Amino acid sequence: MTIDRRGLLAGTAVLGAALSVRPVVAATPGVGGDGGAGALPMPVPSDLLPEPLPVIDRNRTRMERGWLFHEGDVVPPRPQGHHETYLSVKAGNAPGAAALDYDDGDWAAVDLPHDWASFQPFVETANVSQGYRARGIGWYRRRFRLDPADRGGRLELHFDGIATHAQVWINGNLAARSWSGYSAVIVDLTPFATFGDEANVVAIRVDADAMEGWWYEGAGIYRHVWLVRRAPVSIATDGVHCDPRKGPDGWHVPVTVTLDNVGPEAAAVTVGAALIAPDGRRLGGALAAGRAPPLDTGQVTLDLPVADPALWSVDRPQLHRVVVRLEHGGRAVDERSVPVGFRTIRFDPDRGLFVNDRPVKLKGVCLHQDHAGVGVAVPDSLHQWRLERLKAMGCNAIRCSHNAPAPEFLHLCDRMGFLVMNENRIFNPSPDYLAQLEWLVRRDRNHPSVMLWSVFNEEPMQGTPAGVEMVRRMVAAVKRLDDSRPVTAAMNGSFYEPRNVSQVVDVMGFNYFQADYDRFHAANPRLPVTSSEDTSAYQTRGAFRTDEAAHIHTSYDEEAADWGGTHRATWKRIAERAFVAGGFVWTGFDYHGEPTPHAWPTVSSFFGIMDLCGFPKTAFDIHRAHWTDDPPVVSIAPHWTWPGREGEPIKVFVASNVPRAVLRLDGKIVGEGPVDRIMGAEWTVPYRPGRIEVEAWDGDRIVARAAHETAGPPVALRLTPARVRMRGDGEDAQGVTIDTIDARGRHVPTANLPTRFTVEGGSIIGVGNGDPNSHEPEKGQARRLFNGLAQIIVQSAAGTGPLCIRAEADGLRPAAITMRRVAAPVPAQVAAMADESLVRNWRRSPRLAARPEPTLTPADGDNNSWDLVRSGTVTLADPVRGWRVYRSRVVPRRRLAARGGTITFEQVTGIAGLWVDGRPVATKPDPTPGPLTAPLPAGEGPHVLVLIVEAAPGRESGITGLVRVR
Ligand code: GAL
Repeated sequence: MTIDRRGLLAGTAVLGAALSVRPVVAATPGVGGDGGAGALPMPVPSDLLPEPLPVIDRNRTRMERGWLFHEGDVVPPRPQGHHETYLSVKAGNAPGAAALDYDDGDWAAVDLPHDWASFQPFVETANVSQGYRARGIGWYRRRFRLDPADRGGRLELHFDGIATHAQVWINGNLAARSWSGYSAVIVDLTPFATFGDEANVVAIRVDADAMEGWWYEGAGIYRHVWLVRRAPVSIATDGVHCDPRKGPDGWHVPVTVTLDNVGPEAAAVTVGAALIAPDGRRLGGALAAGRAPPLDTGQVTLDLPVADPALWSVDRPQLHRVVVRLEHGGRAVDERSVPVGFRTIRFDPDRGLFVNDRPVKLKGVCLHQDHAGVGVAVPDSLHQWRLERLKAMGCNAIRCSHNAPAPEFLHLCDRMGFLVMNENRIFNPSPDYLAQLEWLVRRDRNHPSVMLWSVFNEEPMQGTPAGVEMVRRMVAAVKRLDDSRPVTAAMNGSFYEPRNVSQVVDVMGFNYFQADYDRFHAANPRLPVTSSEDTSAYQTRGAFRTDEAAHIHTSYDEEAADWGGTHRATWKRIAERAFVAGGFVWTGFDYHGEPTPHAWPTVSSFFGIMDLCGFPKTAFDIHRAHWTDDPPVVSIAPHWTWPGREGEPIKVFVASNVPRAVLRLDGKIVGEGPVDRIMGAEWTVPYRPGRIEVEAWDGDRIVARAAHETAGPPVALRLTPARVRMRGDGEDAQGVTIDTIDARGRHVPTANLPTRFTVEGGSIIGVGNGDPNSHEPEKGQARRLFNGLAQIIVQSAAGTGPLCIRAEADGLRPAAITMRRVAAPVPAQVAAMADESLVRNWRRSPRLAARPEPTLTPADGDNNSWDLVRSGTVTLADPVRGWRVYRSRVVPRRRLAARGGTITFEQVTGIAGLWVDGRPVATKPDPTPGPLTAPLPAGEGPHVLVLIVEAAPGRESGITGLVRVR
């Protein structure tokens, strides 16, 4: 990190003005800059707001508020009688918590995204890989209304991610099953929908005992959820493929549009496509006619040639847009606006990756998707912040290991300039799993950031004929959907088997096994090679001595898994070989679970370049020196607060992209010499409190500095946000750093004390401190500092005004900061409807010539002589007078069972009498349509309802309106 005093003071001034920080914050040497670990880890808050993500499809409305959640399974009683069994397997009659009329009155109200595992305590009996937290089964339910104007159109629900297996019922019908915690669950609810006052009920059973990974996968509906309302003839979901191509005659955008038609007739349509430049200019357009048969899809292709477009690259990620418009019957009925980038990708077997014909070394990290405090329910803005941290380190590539990322994540990669290796989860070419791979390619093939598909990670069958056959099929499936990007597989062995997977992919992906690079390349000189995964080094953030018993790992970059290597040694092997396209460090951030090389009580990983909160370890500075060419950077490790170690020799490690360093202690030179850009430099300095500083010399100029000062005991808390402003959209979230400072305002890197905090104008959605051994809850209003730091993840409340955080710790001066919430559109939400108990299903007797007894019941084995009718159904007129019996059963809501309620027929047609549990309770003497109301007695039920309706000759009759129980 460069310590430029002017920049530092300016930064602090911004901080002071915008944050109204208590006066304890001073312009402290070493506080500021970009937040490496090698000087004090306190980035200057930014004044920028996260930009809204692109809206591709305006037919989608979020459906994330007002859900009900039940932790644990709900097992309905098995049917006993014959007719009950008969009914139980009929459409619309899903039992238990999937049922339309299930009593969810005591379920918890939750908003999505939601990861219930992140609320769980750590327990030794739970799965180590998943981070020692119970996952289990959970249920979600929600009611919503559909406007009658939506009738006839196409309706879908999109769940961008549910961990892990899920079943989705719409109005009592099983409408989707998902076998992947990373694929979207796309539910076509068109045929099941009801319109008007009757609620649609969506019920979801989530099985999070199912595992797809050996890392923390979370539990629940953890990504965005949308209700999609389209015209009867529309553009299909993920139905625009518009990935630019460079051909012999220059650039063009081939556009393929998939159409959907839920209407009754074939539709003749017109599709228009336009290419919009980054500055908003229209660069060209095309029109084509198409046809969509009813209940089928159609396809229209167009082509948009363009001369000399602004190119997309990692340094200048310029995005165009393809706007596709669908016209039907002379009206515009649908539209998509898809960001695209013009760039070429080429892997060369000898020279690695070329983007736009320029060599680009992949300086990549593997990422899991969780963060401290929030688990896998990561707000979009937190994804953005994590990517900013990676960008600040010089990282240019991300491997989404080992699964499809959130769609927002890829939009951010497009916008920020990352190259993405997009990886399939389950290695299996059978139809269910191939569908997951195809979905991934279809969803993500327009992203300029996506440069490589990966069909698997480390599969034991990688060196077998069967494994080869499986990969061949999966590669073919990818190529059918996207012929522009190469396909890889991340192999960890079997490289030389006579039949192995490297023979059927475009790019060889090496997980570890760096010693094999040269041999493999010599044996396969035509096959491009990348490291798909490497390093697996261990570091505990802020620790500089390994303590095996305490599960703490030094951050001097000395320790790694047997199969990996230190950050430096690993990158050296990649950097020295032009034919290796680059690498992906395992991992960019620590993640919950996989506490290798330990187990309980350790609950999260040590592999991260940053910890679980995104606080940098020494690895951050090491990679920044490797990966940034400009500006010059230098860092110094460890910190310089070691009370009790006076006189002891301390190893001082310097990482820099500048060739020479001078190390000073209180101004006096204590080390001097060359710095290897990859390996860094080391000196041993006897410890004495003071200021240790490194100067990075380029020729005769100091181009960068970093320093640490010995801190005294902590006297005050300090809060530092990443940003001084937040979007008042109710979603914007950021991590706020909490640390302590000494009497002179210096960060105290050794403080490990408990803190408490409160927030106004927002909420705390999680807390963390990056300690892999901590069992403190990740929710709540308290957190112990770990090696000087903790993080509060705050989310803005909708609206403008201040967002204030106050923090306290015993014996220290408290801290308070105020951030500004600025006006920002609050994403519209589909309103949630309150619970309403409806009696929907009746058995209706045949017409009877004489008034029947209310005890008249069909035989249990008789499925046929009594009809099954729904409330609201008219019974057609008969030529003669007659009576019909309607029977139903009501299990009252728990609160009604205690004190009783009212049953209301909105409309009954005919003369009617009502019996509840065999007792007459109401009559309706007037034959014209009208309401009928009666008390429902207390008691758990089921209560038996019997309505006898008398119809005059030639007159309609029956239960012609909704029936409510209140
Ligand atoms: C690899 C694997 C990763 C992670 C890593 C830990 O084998 O692909 O998911 O487990 O090892 O070193």
